[in-house]
Amino acid sequence: MRESTLQRINYAMILAIFVTLAVHLATHAFLGVSGYEDSLTYDSVVGRYRAFSTVLTLGVLLIAACFHGLYGLRNILLETRWGARRHRLVSTATRLLGVAMVGWGLRTIVLTTWGV
Ligand code: HEM
Ligand code: HEM
Repeated sequence: MRESTLQRINYAMILAIFVTLAVHLATHAFLGVSGYEDSLTYDSVVGRYRAFSTVLTLGVLLIAACFHGLYGLRNILLETRWGARRHRLVSTATRLLGVAMVGWGLRTIVLTTWGV
């Protein structure tokens, strides 16, 4: 994928984090709960995984934060410019890490939403 396309996707992900992180933090501070302690009870957490709007928010935040964080890490690692082989290694390693992180996060979402 072209670098400019990745950069545009990153900006979209930053916007997505901005919105979904605000909602995520609100659902732990005051939105539908009386405070942090109340929001961290088992029933409260599972209730959010079972509600479509909050699980969608968590899913989008998971994908957006993983992409943005790993894209940023990849750029930092590539700034050392150690040649094409290292470029490929860094890109492949961050891509694999992204698949593992999103896969593990989605596993939590799927198991808690439909399992338990
Ligand atoms: C509201 C939340 C956030 C906003 C608005 C935001 C915004 C930004 C912006 C504008 C950049 C510069 C992008 C560029 O140079 O093209 C950036 C870089 C970066 N962000 Fe975030 N970010 C947020 C959350 C996060 C989170 C949660 C992480 C970690 C998972 C993260 C990790 C990074 C990293 C590693 C970089 C690259 C730093 C560098 O190149 O030196 N950010 N962020
Ligand atoms: C005060 C800070 C935070 C608290 C207390 C908190 C707590 C939680 C809790 C209890 C959950 C389970 C779902 C729920 O109850 O809503 C969760 C899920 C999640 N949080 Fe946070 N969180 C915080 C900050 C953040 C930040 C800063 C990020 C990302 C930049 C983040 C990303 C996520 C993601 C992606 C999930 C879904 C994970 C999954 O199910 O695979 N959280 N958080």
